[in-house]
Amino acid sequence: MSTSKATTVKLQEMKRDRQKIVMLTAYDYPTARTAEQGGIDVILVGDSLGMVVLGYDSTLPVTMEDMIHHTKAVTRGSKQTMIVTDLPFLSYHISTPEAVRNAGRLIQEGGADAVKLEGGREVIEQVQAIVRAGIPVCGHIGLQPQMVNQLGGYKVQGKDFDGAKKILEDALLLQEAGCFALVLECVPTSLAALISERLSIPTIGIGAGDGCDGQVLVVHDMLGITDKYLPKFAKKYSELAEDMKAAVAQYAQEVRDGAFPEAHHGFKMSEDVLERLVEETGLS
Ligand code: KIV
Repeated sequence: MSTSKATTVKLQEMKRDRQKIVMLTAYDYPTARTAEQGGIDVILVGDSLGMVVLGYDSTLPVTMEDMIHHTKAVTRGSKQTMIVTDLPFLSYHISTPEAVRNAGRLIQEGGADAVKLEGGREVIEQVQAIVRAGIPVCGHIGLQPQMVNQLGGYKVQGKDFDGAKKILEDALLLQEAGCFALVLECVPTSLAALISERLSIPTIGIGAGDGCDGQVLVVHDMLGITDKYLPKFAKKYSELAEDMKAAVAQYAQEVRDGAFPEAHHGFKMSEDVLERLVEETGLS
């Protein structure tokens, strides 16, 4: 567990020292506090917030305003943890100047330390321009959820020769373009291990096996906050959805039964004040 806020340089040292990098998503103040107290190295304000917090079917409807709003909440909750925020769908595709402007907004308005964007060779120009502006960029290849409609679903990428070669080449191009780290999502374990060996920047895996330099999970999956489908690559470390449902049901029952609130949950006032109130307002 790290004791000081991670930087891009520190993450690269961690790779060199074979210390695993731990990344976890957070989208709000209390979760950011929990992540920091739990010793997470990097918090990702992922656009997965569209699915796990905002209830959309994909990440596509997520806007810059959403990402800034949630990043602000996260930065208020974690002062000692590096925060990386996702550039949402279409915020970096239209033009390179717009990509730089939007990356800058996540830093200036949101308070993020770095940004993440999806894509390989097709986003190299944007990565270079954002890095030139002094903003650290984390790449994201393999399964790119913002491309779900083109990919035909959330599928493992890079299983055949051409697909694997493209992902490896993209990884090298992104490193050359200046990315400080790369998320590898849903790629075969052996491909992720090969890429991790070839790169000098750290790889952070999700559904990419144990050969990456670090790991990221979506906090709602990992804590069991959602009772929806759990991806094969995720692991639940608690069953909060079950605990939350049971607590809500017990609360509802106790209110209906008169078991809550009890006397000690209330506040006292002097009898004199009450008597005077009754007298003067004639409400007895
Ligand atoms: O948005 C997100 O949470 C992500 C992770 C799955 C890497 O991009």
